[in-house]
Amino acid sequence: MTSSPGPADRSNAADRPLRGKLSSTRRQFIRGIAAAGAGTAGAVAVKSNGLDLFAEQAFARHRGNAFSRFRAIAPSSEDVLEVPRGFRADVLISWGDVFRDGAKRRLRYGFNNDFLAYFPLRGSREGLLFVNHEYPDPFFLHGYKPDGSPKTPEDVQEEQDSVGNSILHVKRRDNGRWKVVSPSKYNRRIYGDRPDLMFTGPLVGAPGIGTSSHGSVGNCSGGITLWGTALSCEENFDGYGTNVTPDLEFGYGWHQFGGQPEDAEYEFTTFKKYGWVCEHDPYDPDYVGRKHTALGRFRHENTAFRHEPGKKFVLYMGDDKSNEGVYKFVSDRGLRSSRGRGDNRRILEEGQLYIARWEPEGRRRFVQGQLVTDTEGTGTWEAVPVDALDDTANKLRAAIGEAEYNEHYATNRPEDVEVAEDGSVFIALTNNSSVGDSHGSVRRLRERGNDPEALEFTWRDYAAGGETGSGETGQEGFSAPDNLVFDKAGNLWVVTDISSTSLNQPNNAYTYHKNNAMFMVPTSGRNKGVAFRFANGPVECEMTGPYFTPDEETLFVNVQHPGETTAIDADSPGVFGTEATYTSWWPEGNRTANDNPSTPMPSTVAITRGRPGEGSDDGDDD
Ligand code: FEO
Ligand code: CA
Ligand code: CA
Repeated sequence: MTSSPGPADRSNAADRPLRGKLSSTRRQFIRGIAAAGAGTAGAVAVKSNGLDLFAEQAFARHRGNAFSRFRAIAPSSEDVLEVPRGFRADVLISWGDVFRDGAKRRLRYGFNNDFLAYFPLRGSREGLLFVNHEYPDPFFLHGYKPDGSPKTPEDVQEEQDSVGNSILHVKRRDNGRWKVVSPSKYNRRIYGDRPDLMFTGPLVGAPGIGTSSHGSVGNCSGGITLWGTALSCEENFDGYGTNVTPDLEFGYGWHQFGGQPEDAEYEFTTFKKYGWVCEHDPYDPDYVGRKHTALGRFRHENTAFRHEPGKKFVLYMGDDKSNEGVYKFVSDRGLRSSRGRGDNRRILEEGQLYIARWEPEGRRRFVQGQLVTDTEGTGTWEAVPVDALDDTANKLRAAIGEAEYNEHYATNRPEDVEVAEDGSVFIALTNNSSVGDSHGSVRRLRERGNDPEALEFTWRDYAAGGETGSGETGQEGFSAPDNLVFDKAGNLWVVTDISSTSLNQPNNAYTYHKNNAMFMVPTSGRNKGVAFRFANGPVECEMTGPYFTPDEETLFVNVQHPGETTAIDADSPGVFGTEATYTSWWPEGNRTANDNPSTPMPSTVAITRGRPGEGSDDGDDD
């Protein structure tokens, strides 16, 4: 097969003048703390208010990074993690791997890693990875198939132990490869049932909420803050007790076991302790996590902040459910360096939540495969009342009315949201079968006057998913966009989340796409809007949480749910303990090459420049 030119052969450097006013988005913050060479980056960020870290040099026009030039790769159905020639992808840690905290207590890496963020300790050489573990797979954990049979309390405990969050101390060796530093005082786990997290905001003490919750569940994507904390979003929180949600096909049944009254708190109908944005401080091992009620309770996917000097702190969020909305939180408190870190950690406790109202309508609707709705328009931010915060989307839908809500508030399932350097907001609308949208889109929202506090905006669908018809290798088109991240050249990186049961079928809308993949989409230059395929995931995985180190020499990414259909229903092929029956054998084997039958393991991967085999495990610089 001839390989046609990818971005390696074309200029896509951002061609944009420097702005006079320095603002802060996630990427600028990361770049700033790296430039500061922070010993404890969080402390530095606060001392300097995060703002003087963004020295002019940080805004110099970037001609790209280690990842800007590559030869796009073709779609693949292989059971491998594939990256372009000139790059290598090394597994840093996998589900079940042991690491130890400062007291040398044994911790195990959780299942189904999703969000990740890198918090520098020493620039891009040493830092902390904050990782979400979204949901358990009862089959791979303890051999359970969803046939309605009971689980034991030990099964449920194992599931609770496999989710939540990991905080990992990581370091780049002299040979360029990454390792987990263990033991370390920073290494930590948060689980599905422990420790307790504290509620903040207007609903503290409210019925069903109280003052604290046991652990955290459904931690899908997330975000960081300007004061150096991580935000973890509880997405499918309604799947852990009985299955009471009609469109949810699973329920882990955790409420049935243990005999303690608090076990019932996973009941979606009676308790409201899950479905929140949780704040954690990776730099502070003693910090008690917070669940912020001011941000509402829905299927939180992620957060993306924007801070402009003199303006309030703003957080954008999506509700990852078909026909649900996009939200913005405007904090009452501004960021103040003089108040110190502790006070800044209170910024998300008080403020106003808004939901986006779209004109002419929010959803991309298709009739017989043809788009029948507009691809641009205007919108307003509508205030969410305090009494809707505990069940936000359902209460808004009821108050607004079904027809009005579906026309003007519903969207095609918002996954990740990212704020670009120019302040515009990119939203991954992954897909929505109820309106015939198989492939999704990336939507760009601009606030009126580029003011983060504005109550009016314009929007345009920036890139549409689906087959492009291009014969150029690696430019066949993405589908079902999920997590987004910008690099310093302004390129948008997109990972896809086509559902495992739809992947690699002979004749469906996704046949052309093959495995889920990662794409780079230039936002300027002649290749603006073209999606170049950078990586292919192994069988039935989605890649999640892509995150660059500040120097952008390493791209961390999670491989989530490889081999997911092994035991997705009672008559799936998987026989527990017989690895040959598993649908993926990654990372230790390769099912499509019939090489080394193994249990598939969700893993965190470091992608760097370098050839496979380059850099050995010897020569550790410790
Ligand atoms: Fe867990 Fe929204 O994907
Ligand atoms: Ca996601
Ligand atoms: Ca997803």
